[in-house]
Amino acid sequence: MTGPEARIRLDGVAKKFGKVIAVYPTDMEVAPGEFTVILGPSGCGKTSTLRMIAGLEAPSQGRVFINGRDVTALRPGDRDIAFVFQMFSLYPHLTVQENVAFTMLAQGLSRPEAMRRAGDTLRHLGLGGLAGIRPGSLSGGDQQRVSLARALVRTPQAFLMDEPLGTLDGGMREEMRETLRAIHNRSGATTVFVTHDQEEAMGLADRIAVMREGRVVQFDHPRNIYANPADLFVADFVGSPGMNILPGIRRGEWVDVPSLSMRLRVTDNGGGNPSGAAAGLAAGGECRLGVRPENVLLSETGAPCVVEHTLALGSHNMLSLRVQGVFLKAWIPAGIRFREGETVGTTFLPSGCRWFDAVSGTALPWKTLEAACRPTR
Ligand SMILES: Nc1ncnc2c1ncn2[C@@H]1O[C@H](COP(=O)(O)OP(=O)(O)O)[C@@H](O)[C@H]1O
Ligand SMILES: [Mg+2]
Repeated sequence: MTGPEARIRLDGVAKKFGKVIAVYPTDMEVAPGEFTVILGPSGCGKTSTLRMIAGLEAPSQGRVFINGRDVTALRPGDRDIAFVFQMFSLYPHLTVQENVAFTMLAQGLSRPEAMRRAGDTLRHLGLGGLAGIRPGSLSGGDQQRVSLARALVRTPQAFLMDEPLGTLDGGMREEMRETLRAIHNRSGATTVFVTHDQEEAMGLADRIAVMREGRVVQFDHPRNIYANPADLFVADFVGSPGMNILPGIRRGEWVDVPSLSMRLRVTDNGGGNPSGAAAGLAAGGECRLGVRPENVLLSETGAPCVVEHTLALGSHNMLSLRVQGVFLKAWIPAGIRFREGETVGTTFLPSGCRWFDAVSGTALPWKTLEAACRPTR
C-alpha cells in the first residue's frame, strides 16, 4: 500500500457561491506523507476547500498545485487523488473481498490483481477471515471496517476525506480513528481529512488547519494549537472544555484580572504580533487571559472561588467554579471532592497563562512571570 506521496499546495485559493464567500483567499501547503486535518465548525468552508483540492469545485480565484504541477484546470480523475466521502454502503450480492476489489475492477485493473490487493488490504486490517462472506451476515462494526478497507484499497498520491467517520457512534468512531491512523502510518499517503470534531482532529493529525468563517486561522501541530492558540476562537474551540477566558487590564508590567482580584506580572517577550498588542492596549489596555483547566491550581492563598459542582470522570474530576460572574473549569485529582457552595482558593500556573487582544482576539506575545492574589476587600 505504498505509493508516491503528493505535496499539495493552495496558492490564494478562494471560493464564492453567488454572494456567499465560502473560502477567503487561502495559502496552505500539505507536505508529502503528511496527515493534515481541516478542523472547524459547520459552514466554515472545510468541504469547499477539500472539493477544490479534489477538483470537484473550481476555485473562484487562486491555484492548486500537486507536486509542483498546476492542476487547477484538471478534472478530478486526472489528479491521482482519492476522495473518500462518508463510508460507502456495501454491495450485498458481492463477497467482502469482491466489495473491496470493486473500485479497482471498475478502473480496469485485472480481476486477479484487484482481488489480490483487496485480500492484502483486508489482512492488513485484520479482516482476512471475512473475505469470502457476504456483507449481510456481518456485524455493523465489521461492515464499517470493510467499507473503510474499500475506501483505502486504492493507492493514490493522496486521500481526501470529508468527515468519513461522521455517521459512526462513539466507540466505533474511536476504533475507526485508530485504524485509519494505523493505515496511514503504513501507507504514508498524503491525507487531508475534514472534521468538525476537535478531539478527532487532535487524535489523527500531524498538523491541523483550524478554519473559521472561510479562513484558516491557525495551521500547526496539534500540541501547539492546544498550547498556543492563535486567537480566542481557537482557544475556545480546541480542548474539551476549551480554555478559561478572563478579562484583564494591562497596567505596565502587570495585568489586573479584576474578577479574581488577581495580578499577573508579564513581559513582552519579543516575537508574536506587535500590531495586535498595540490594538489591545489602545482600548485602555484591555486584554483576555486564557488558561487551560489543567493550569488552574488550587491554593489556600489563591483567589476565593465558589464551587458550582464537581464532575467525577474516573481518572480525574472536573471542578466548576464561579467568581464575580466569571466561570472557571479546573481539572483536579480524582480523590478530591468539594461541596457545592464551598469556597476554594484558585491561582494559575504562570507558564500556562496565554494572552489575547480584547478587540481582535489575536494572541499576544506576553510571557507570564508570576500570579499574585490580593486579599479580597
Ligand atoms: N453549492 C453551494 N451553493 C451555495 N452555497 C454553498 C454551496 N456549498 C457550500 N455553500 C456555502 O458555503 C459555506 C461553506 O460551506 P462548506 O464548505 O460546506 O462548509 P463546511 O464543510 O465547513 O460545513 C456555507 O455558508 C455554505 O452554506
Ligand atoms: Mg462539510
